[in-house]
Amino acid sequence: MTRRSMMAANWKMNKTVREAQDYVAALIPHATDASNVDMAVFTPLTCLGEVARMTEDSPVLAGAQNFYFEDSGAFTGEVSIPMLQDIGVKTVLVGHSERREVFGEDDAMVARKTKRAIEAGLLPVVCVGETKEERDGGGMWDKVSGQVNAVLEGLDVGGDAIVFAYEPIWAIGTGDTASPEDAQDAIGQIRKLLRESRDDAFADAVRILYGGSVKPGNVAEIMSQEDVDGGLVGGAALEVDSFVELIQAAEDSAPDEE
Ligand code: 13P
Repeated sequence: MTRRSMMAANWKMNKTVREAQDYVAALIPHATDASNVDMAVFTPLTCLGEVARMTEDSPVLAGAQNFYFEDSGAFTGEVSIPMLQDIGVKTVLVGHSERREVFGEDDAMVARKTKRAIEAGLLPVVCVGETKEERDGGGMWDKVSGQVNAVLEGLDVGGDAIVFAYEPIWAIGTGDTASPEDAQDAIGQIRKLLRESRDDAFADAVRILYGGSVKPGNVAEIMSQEDVDGGLVGGAALEVDSFVELIQAAEDSAPDEE
């Protein structure tokens, strides 16, 4: 089974509208050449409408970093899925570790958000991963399998409707990348869990990305791992030239589509 590679930029809380415009204008010509890779840019809300407008006729998916699962109502400060669709958003991050750790999102919240996104036809990229203490204490798999199982519960969709991103928290923004073997080991275990809890077709279709200090110097080795289908990148995707290099590496490692 061939899964399409995916390379995604998570800008986190960075970039003005003007900076976003310059980035996307520079990205689109390169993106148009990368025919074997799905690309997404997860931007702050203030520039997301503009990024969605600029990428509308390009292969780049405009993505939101966060949303709430209700459609409207008294939820001060939140945006809903219909509001995101109204401005042309195609994909959403769900359960990024910064949402979980800084803003207290729990597994139940992440599961509800994931279902809402899928119901609306948006592609959720669901983030999972353990802290350093959990890894050192031998609790990595308990944490990660719990996060994955919470999302799978009651979810009745094909494997192409969801993407997971394994992002060990200790590797995010630290320069301390998981080794390619660690990334493969964790992502391979996640795929095995998908296989056991669903079936081969589901497990073989779900794309699982790695995130945590991915950069041009380590991306090829990470992408070459059997179960790693792409990257979710923060720091090294803030400069467009560097993100283009990451896309190129994903393109080079992608199996040719006949
Ligand atoms: P860095 O690439 O900066 O480590 O961030 C990873 C991340 O959190 C992407 O969502």
